[in-house]
Amino acid sequence: MISIENISKSFVLHNQGSAEIPVMQGASIKVAPGECVALTGASGAGKSTLMRMIYGNYLTASGRIMIGDIDVATAAPREIIQLRRRTLGYVSQFLRVVPRVSTLDVVTEPLRATGTPRAAAVAQAKVLLTRLNIPQRLWQLSPTTFSGGEQQRVNIARGFAYSYPALLLDEPTASLDPTNRATVLAMITEAKARGAAIIGIFHDHAARDEICDHQFDVTQFTPGLAA
Ligand SMILES: Nc1ncnc2c1ncn2[C@@H]1O[C@H](COP(=O)(O)OP(=O)(O)OP(=O)(O)O)[C@@H](O)[C@H]1O
Ligand SMILES: [Mg+2]
Repeated sequence: MISIENISKSFVLHNQGSAEIPVMQGASIKVAPGECVALTGASGAGKSTLMRMIYGNYLTASGRIMIGDIDVATAAPREIIQLRRRTLGYVSQFLRVVPRVSTLDVVTEPLRATGTPRAAAVAQAKVLLTRLNIPQRLWQLSPTTFSGGEQQRVNIARGFAYSYPALLLDEPTASLDPTNRATVLAMITEAKARGAAIIGIFHDHAARDEICDHQFDVTQFTPGLAA
């Protein structure tokens, strides 16, 4: 489902005489449906950078990033938009909160974007928010003022609302209490069981070992950063 082949990337520092720093060289990863692969490596090793390349936020200089039959490295912007709508989900480490947009609308948006009728999308969102212990009194409010853990759970509800065949998870259990952490791990396990291919970053080693089938240390492919 996800096949990364020999990709490379450099950051060009325009404010320092266009100095070029190689950050990724010759990285290859394959993730089959139903599999979870963990990206590992010390802080600054380039894990989030690789995830941003896969999601198409950072350009890739060479190599291929196949998600199904789309190559993110060469896809046109509108192909990336289509890919993100129906194929590739991403739970970033922090929720991007938009003031005045209610929690229910944040969670239903990915379903509405794929044509789910409003009533069905709202019903699905309520199931997820209940499961993730977001109190009902918060559902009509914007998550702007929510606690870090509440925002993270809204982000997870949003990322899991639509059943994407491929999922990127950046620290999904980072600031959760044990109960909610267990719920999120169960949701990831269920996503694998329905055939999702998942790439995750987990500083929580117990969670990583429980959920992930393989580990991939990015340090070996990040020459400019590992030094
Ligand atoms: N846009 C950018 N321009 C220049 N350098 C960048 C840019 N983005 C990231 N970097 C560099 O890449 C390095 C790796 O960052 P990245 O966020 O991928 O690390 P990480 O492995 O996710 O670390 P952590 O575990 O702390 O989240 C950073 O130290 C930074 O120097
Ligand atoms: Mg990171």
